[in-house]
Amino acid sequence: MEKLLNLQALRKNFGKQVVLNKVSFELNSGEIVGLIGPSGAGKSTMIKTMLGMEKADSGDALVLSHRMPNRHILGEIGYMAQSDALYESLSGLENMEFFAQMKGLSRRDIPKAIDHACQVVDLSEHLNKAVSGYSGGMKRRLSLAIALLGNPRLLILDEPTVGIDPALRRKVWQELRQLKQDGVGILVTTHVMSEAELTDKVGLLLDGKMMAFDSPENLKSAYGVHSIEEVFLKAEGEL
Ligand SMILES: Nc1ncnc2c1ncn2[C@@H]1O[C@H](COP(=O)(O)OP(=O)(O)OP(=O)(O)O)[C@@H](O)[C@H]1O
Ligand SMILES: [Mg+2]
Repeated sequence: MEKLLNLQALRKNFGKQVVLNKVSFELNSGEIVGLIGPSGAGKSTMIKTMLGMEKADSGDALVLSHRMPNRHILGEIGYMAQSDALYESLSGLENMEFFAQMKGLSRRDIPKAIDHACQVVDLSEHLNKAVSGYSGGMKRRLSLAIALLGNPRLLILDEPTVGIDPALRRKVWQELRQLKQDGVGILVTTHVMSEAELTDKVGLLLDGKMMAFDSPENLKSAYGVHSIEEVFLKAEGEL
């Protein structure tokens, strides 16, 4: 087991607002951690700060044992942002080819890698269409396919299943479980509590703090409830 993420007392303020208040947690290889918390809790900020896209005010965040940004390990991380960053005038295939090259995949490996990633998100038949003509869910699926390219050791997915229908959502989760079996570590944020049930550990971010961090089973018994949805509501004081 290898420590892929290691956050220690990470603090991030925006002006006077404390968004992350000494957040600590670890993610190991072969583990899926689901990050939940109300809108505005700081989930995306936590991800951006650990990836070096926002500067921490204090504390430490190690990604694959390095401080980010570090271009040497970028190719080992599959990151899917909450808002899609795609080239609208290019086709889905052209986007994938571009990002595959950016990740350093060899020309020979690219077609197979694209093929596999597209199958997972069921996008194969739309690949030649310009992204400007994609629906919201199709853009999410393309972003996820791009994150999967190049067999990253660490996946960081910020709300990957927004706008994705239940059948495909199930397929995406099957793929995440498979990747976990292969030793990939996955951090995924979600507002879908049934997805949080499928993780190894759930982190509940509330008021800038990691209020809970444990397996779904342990959390449910600690809160005396039967679902992660109830854990969430109870922690928020809604139950
Ligand atoms: N660049 C920024 N400048 C100022 N405030 C910011 C910035 N980015 C985020 N915030 C604030 O930080 C807080 C956390 O935002 P963040 O996007 O991390 O929440 P989130 O948990 O990802 O929410 P959601 O579930 O809606 O995606 C919010 O109050 C937001 O307004
Ligand atoms: Mg967010």
